[in-house]
Amino acid sequence: MSLHNQQKQPEMIYETIVTTVDAQGQPHVAPFGIRERNGLVLIAPFKPSSSLDNFLRERTAVLNLTDDVRVFAGAFTARRNWQVRKAYHVAGFVLEGVLAHRELELVEVKDDGLRPELYFRVVHEATHAPFRGFNRAQAAVVELAVLVSRLHMLPIEKIEAEITYLEIAIKKTAGERELEAWGWLIERIDNHKAAISGENQA
Ligand SMILES: Cc1cc2nc3c(=O)[nH]c(=O)nc-3n(C[C@H](O)[C@H](O)[C@H](O)COP(=O)(O)O)c2cc1C
Repeated sequence: MSLHNQQKQPEMIYETIVTTVDAQGQPHVAPFGIRERNGLVLIAPFKPSSSLDNFLRERTAVLNLTDDVRVFAGAFTARRNWQVRKAYHVAGFVLEGVLAHRELELVEVKDDGLRPELYFRVVHEATHAPFRGFNRAQAAVVELAVLVSRLHMLPIEKIEAEITYLEIAIKKTAGERELEAWGWLIERIDNHKAAISGENQA
């Protein structure tokens, strides 16, 4: 293969929960898909973002690697009040019950009008519990959370079609936490549908 044809290596995206410290010193919890580039963690928030404000002000963050998908669903259904404890090496918070976490320090910002790139150095990492295998219902909740985060940009028919497919994994493989998270997201979508049908009738 000539150099010309060589494709850039695909960059994996890992879906994580990022905790930051808000201006009042309280934890702020938000899902972010992160990448690893040149030994650094790359987080790319769309503007505006409270997490972005917190990254730039505090210059720290904590990546929480969790299989509790309620935290992903909770971010879009007014449930962000999860138990936390203090991080070890940065001024920040670690979610209770996570499988692993990484404490981050901001080292570089590539600003952009829409989606800046923030590069972080890992200053501490710890594993608290083993990975127990993939679960399709967890993946389905994360997919639906992504759709709900774009609810106002997507046609409702697209969301309904995705629900029909993702529900198969929920019915076959969910546990209690996955069912609870799924229920929150479905309720959020139902409220959105009621709001848009109300707008159409007005
Ligand atoms: C799995 C998942 C991954 C996400 N990844 C990103 C991301 O990389 N960048 C982004 O701006 N928002 C992302 N979002 C949406 C943010 O979580 C959402 O906008 C969040 O509220 C952050 O905004 P805040 O910092 O103002 O709280 C993601 C959502 C989900 C469910």
